[in-house]
Amino acid sequence: MTNNPLYQQPLRVSRISAEAKDVCVVELTALDNGELAPFTPGAHLELMLGNGLIRHYSLLNDCSERHRYLIAVGLSEDSRGGSRFIHGSLRQNDVINARPPRNNFELDPHAERYCFVAGGIGITPILAMIHWCQRNNRPWRLIYSVRSLQRAAYYEPLSQLDPARVQWHVTDQQGGRHLDARAVIDSLASDEQLYCCGPSPLMSAIRDAGAAVASQLHFEWFAAPAQPEAETLGDGSGAFDLQLLRSGRTLRVEAEQSILEALEASGLEPPFACRAGVCRTCETRVCAGQPDHRDMVLSDEERAAGDCLLICVSRSLSPSLALDL
Ligand code: FES
Repeated sequence: MTNNPLYQQPLRVSRISAEAKDVCVVELTALDNGELAPFTPGAHLELMLGNGLIRHYSLLNDCSERHRYLIAVGLSEDSRGGSRFIHGSLRQNDVINARPPRNNFELDPHAERYCFVAGGIGITPILAMIHWCQRNNRPWRLIYSVRSLQRAAYYEPLSQLDPARVQWHVTDQQGGRHLDARAVIDSLASDEQLYCCGPSPLMSAIRDAGAAVASQLHFEWFAAPAQPEAETLGDGSGAFDLQLLRSGRTLRVEAEQSILEALEASGLEPPFACRAGVCRTCETRVCAGQPDHRDMVLSDEERAAGDCLLICVSRSLSPSLALDL
């Protein structure tokens, strides 16, 4: 075991099973069945899939378990390869490499009460949080929005819990009507912390409805929500220059291009995974210029420091940005 975040550990797929329609659960264990690196509720695992893709999946099991990691993967209709690979090609006893768990969705252990809002496969980090609450005897409730009960991962165990704790919203049974975000926010007590994970439209609706109680809201984004264009981007056209200090090169990032795409177009191969500003794999040091942060994971302090950015989504507020590349 190591604290090096770049360390990759081979893990065995000890079990893979169907959990709901288009949802499978994968159990991963150490090759010697020994203890795994610890994690906290809300953490995710970075997996190097056999088809060359890097993907992040939230850990759903109780973090007191040290012998296994559990992830659930929904088959995405617009899969860019990750969920299709896991559903179609991954088999029991396969070995895949993983980086140690990281957490961008930390649960505040000192909150008085917890309100969890999950949409679809977004239930996965919430399950780890519920395990923690149950084990520590902390008050919690869950609002779980699913398209249909057939697609609801962990329907059985959740439906056996105290119905006062678990509120279901089944869109198909509601004539296609989505969860009422305003009603969720109106039900939030002043001493409750809300943790939300699900599709971007659900999280955006909760975020917008809860603007007045933003300090009580916490989100795990799968993809950065659409953001308005900054008026002062780069030189005003939306394009900007990139100085690569290590190689001495200068590149142009066009308005419709990400920094990552501009680097790739010039033949460079910077590391990336989500390409959506939610995993930090592409984090790069900024040496000069003013970043326009558009990710969902940097802290307020990191944004204010302005010395790093996630090149898959973030841009420049200054005409030129110098990077440690
Ligand atoms: Fe995931 Fe950039 S590749 S944050």
